[in-house]
Amino acid sequence: MKSLKQQVKRLPVHVAIVPDGNGRWAEKRGLPRLAGHQAGVKKMRALTEYLNDLKIKYVTLYGFSTENWGRPGDEIEGLFRILKERIDQDIPKLHKKGIRVRHLGRLGELPDWLQSSIRHAVEHTKDNTGLTLSLAFNYGGHVEIIDAIRRIIAEGIPPEKIDEKLFSDYLYTAGMPYVDLLIRTGDEWRLSNFLLWQTAYSEYYFTDVLWPDFNKEDMDKALIAYSQRERRFGAL
Ligand code: IPE
Ligand code: MG
Repeated sequence: MKSLKQQVKRLPVHVAIVPDGNGRWAEKRGLPRLAGHQAGVKKMRALTEYLNDLKIKYVTLYGFSTENWGRPGDEIEGLFRILKERIDQDIPKLHKKGIRVRHLGRLGELPDWLQSSIRHAVEHTKDNTGLTLSLAFNYGGHVEIIDAIRRIIAEGIPPEKIDEKLFSDYLYTAGMPYVDLLIRTGDEWRLSNFLLWQTAYSEYYFTDVLWPDFNKEDMDKALIAYSQRERRFGAL
């Protein structure tokens, strides 16, 4: 068996993931939706470790969008509880592997107990030099751009100083390269307000695998598909 590295000419630097299909995975099994979230959020650690082993430098996960507030209150509450539990249990293990955690989104609108878990994870891992795992919790691409504009104006930056580089530095993803590969599971072919600015030239990979079933082999398929795409960034 050839290893993945032998099969691909190049790997992405930044992989963004929209994990979709937790609810359907649970419904198919006659389980409550939260059981799907539980199974889905549990997948994160092994996949992150796998990508870190492959020396991929940035992984960004869409955990909770600014639009997900439209879901029933008990699903939101349950999902937050599951996210906190996994952060508290899995981040110390990821820390041992040199993984650094960042948060993308409006942190202050999340419950205090979830905020403090996230803050602790970010603080605890900030000097790590392995893969950067960005948790997009209460993230929206539109509010990210609005928050950047507000800060640029508040700081009195003169209009002629505003260019692509400066603007990127005011986004939640400041200092990170743009997304190379965006993976969405669960057979939905949408961006859903994720990393709008950072995906302008990304390669998109969609799969009907439901997120709780997505494993290393599925990740390899996505990485192989990426390596076979020709990227021209608008040039000939
Ligand atoms: C994605 O799974 C998880 C989050 C949005 C946090 P869904 O909850 O959207 O699952 P489906 O789409 O209903 O199957
Ligand atoms: Mg969904």
